[in-house]
Amino acid sequence: MTRNLTIGRPDDFHLHLRDQQMLAAVAPWSARLGRAIIMPNLVPPVVTGAQAAAYRDRIAAALPADATLRPLMTLYLTEATDPADVVAAHAAGIIAAVKLYPAGATTNSDSGVRDFDRVRPVFEAMAQARIPLCVHGEVTDPAVDIFDREAVFIDRVLDPVRRATPGLRVVMEHITTQDGVDYVRAGGDIGGTLTAHHLVINRNHILAGGIRPHYYCLPVAKRERHRLALVEAATSGDARFFAGTDSAPHPDHAKESACGCAGCFTAPNWLPICAHVFEQAGRLDRLEAFVSLNGAAFYGLAPNADRIRLSRRDEPATWPARIPAGEDSVTVFDPGFPLYWHVEEAA
Ligand code: DOR
Ligand code: ZN
Repeated sequence: MTRNLTIGRPDDFHLHLRDQQMLAAVAPWSARLGRAIIMPNLVPPVVTGAQAAAYRDRIAAALPADATLRPLMTLYLTEATDPADVVAAHAAGIIAAVKLYPAGATTNSDSGVRDFDRVRPVFEAMAQARIPLCVHGEVTDPAVDIFDREAVFIDRVLDPVRRATPGLRVVMEHITTQDGVDYVRAGGDIGGTLTAHHLVINRNHILAGGIRPHYYCLPVAKRERHRLALVEAATSGDARFFAGTDSAPHPDHAKESACGCAGCFTAPNWLPICAHVFEQAGRLDRLEAFVSLNGAAFYGLAPNADRIRLSRRDEPATWPARIPAGEDSVTVFDPGFPLYWHVEEAA
């Protein structure tokens, strides 16, 4: 049995660090990453290059002195986004990508896009400049069942946008369905991120035997057959799939509520969860591609030069059940089974 695994320092291609007190609380838990794509859905959202640069500086200030993390910033696409601003921010090295939230799809998405025709000039400029578009792939039509929203988005929005904009590089974020996996596999300028939590929970975990708000996120976890498709994609070695945790902290009072908000906080344990999943699949040899290589390649980045060691110990890894955040706390995602893979600092 493999006991030690040395891999390039992992990156996270989809991370929410928030701002102010919450940023201070969660940033240390992502400090030992190589790079992370930082989501821009703050209140108000990060819509200009100047705001992205200021947010990057606030993140740097919140990180401990020994942090290895280099934040890769994104802009939040609105119907008022100026294509020239996007291209300039990218050319200046301030942003690595742009994030598309359909308006109303998820947390802080009110400023997102309602009419996709209105952002066509931005897509065209991005295609020209090869700037990746990170897509929250769910329709918001209330007539569409929440479990179908990802599959319907592919047909109604994503595929028409991609056909109309040759050369547009797309990351289909936090894929939760076989449909999403198949769509990324169909190819073109497209990659897909997969979260650790969607690799280990299905919709029964959220709803059977009681409602578990800390398993609620968007896109919501689907049936078991979809989870199995995600595990297959992650562990296949296919370079189009890579880790993006969507670690999305919320204060416990906002999760444990009559109308709880969406998001799983996985920053403390996503890597041991991934190691567990890959071990179970008999594909530990492909873990490094998923967490450390494929995403960097998609974004045109060199792999991180330094390495970390994972060790499989007899005693399970531990982490706090919840971390303090200002007056409140944030519950850490509980995979529901012990994790024997430990992240050791030095390789
Ligand atoms: O569960 C989610 N939480 N999904 C998202 O798309 C947004 C995120 C958040 O910002 O809380
Ligand atoms: Zn997210």
